[in-house]
Amino acid sequence: MFKKSLISAMVLAGAAGSSQAQSADLTISCGAVGAELTLCQQGVALWEEETGHEVDIVSTPNSSTERLSLYQQILSAQSNDIDVMQVDVVWPGLLANHLLDLSDILGKDAAEGHFETIVANNTIDDRLVAMPWFTDAGVLYYRKDLLEAHGVEPPETWEELTEIAAQIQAAERQAGNDKMWGYVFQGRAYEGLTCNALEWIASYGGGTIVDAEGEITIDNAQAAEALDLAASWIGNISPKGALNYTEEEARGIFQSGNAIFMRNWPYAWSLAQSEESDVRGKVGVVKLPHGGENHGAAASGGENHSAATLGGWNLAVSRYTENPELAADLVAFLTGEAEQKRRAIEGAYNPTLASLYEDEEVLAAAPFFGTLYETFTNAVARPSAPTGDNYGRVSNGFFNAVHQVLSGDQSGAEAVSRMDSELSRIKRRRW
Ligand code: GLC
Repeated sequence: MFKKSLISAMVLAGAAGSSQAQSADLTISCGAVGAELTLCQQGVALWEEETGHEVDIVSTPNSSTERLSLYQQILSAQSNDIDVMQVDVVWPGLLANHLLDLSDILGKDAAEGHFETIVANNTIDDRLVAMPWFTDAGVLYYRKDLLEAHGVEPPETWEELTEIAAQIQAAERQAGNDKMWGYVFQGRAYEGLTCNALEWIASYGGGTIVDAEGEITIDNAQAAEALDLAASWIGNISPKGALNYTEEEARGIFQSGNAIFMRNWPYAWSLAQSEESDVRGKVGVVKLPHGGENHGAAASGGENHSAATLGGWNLAVSRYTENPELAADLVAFLTGEAEQKRRAIEGAYNPTLASLYEDEEVLAAAPFFGTLYETFTNAVARPSAPTGDNYGRVSNGFFNAVHQVLSGDQSGAEAVSRMDSELSRIKRRRW
């Protein structure tokens, strides 16, 4: 009964009906943000053709936070409903006990050629619990045509972004587009806000919430300043609705031509450049801004650097699968070079294989994979490694507090001080 209620919380995607669902050899869960589900279906179909096996695909909620609680229910029930799971880069520590060691099945060299930082991230107690599938880093999308028309360059600091966005927004509204907004980003209280706010804070020299040694670092003036600036955007250069935006809502506004700047992940590139897009050919991608000269760490003699949060997804095999070998074979196929190349070209999903960043076809499809290579390889990790299986609590505490600052319910300084107390409580209990 439990099993049934869990599966009904998901959407069976690609299966013709329940008889097919029952006869399939494996079930894989895939994300459905942007073109994700289509690309997953295509990749799975290629493996089916090659092996003669049948796979069911279930699509999971778009919000990483919701997806995690669904997986946690399925795995703690030791259910075999899903054999292969798409897992977020911040989850290996949380889910490791429920996942198989893939190097046991695929061999010690299974992850050779993949970025070492991701392999290390996915290796818990010497067990490779997930294979890297694609990596992610936050980038800044901008309207090339509008910036050119107004004679401005893409912003290097958040203060410049705030100014340029306000200026062009006012001019565009005056010219008749009263729906135009300066900046859209992910402001809903969920994992995506943790990613955005970490970028603001780290780029003001305000640290990474918890440092690599597990010390809580959030209570500092730079972090507070970064949050206050972000709060000033709401209702001015960003719609109030941004308090409820995930990736796809932000993309919707930008792609329909109603935003000057957007923070998003690389996947938004292929869609913004697609035939259905209103901004095709008018979009540029640069690294995210950092705190300005008299702001953040720079105000007291330190430095501010652009920071992109490290994101990305991996494929793991559930410990409760009845077909470990077959499931691992599907994982090896989907995370292999040919599939990563296809997904990079068709969907701008960043490969986890360094060699593909030198591939001409990949670079032609997503030129910023070359120009922003350093951004992808130096992205800032969320504190999932030092906080281990408390990461979910830490991130929830963080995004809820940040959301209150954005909503005007508390100041940046109040929020970082309260977060310090809340995180200390979590740390005392467990990490
Ligand atoms: C992207 C990232 C993932 C992150 C999520 C937050 O999917 O790849 O790591 O947790 O966005 O919304």
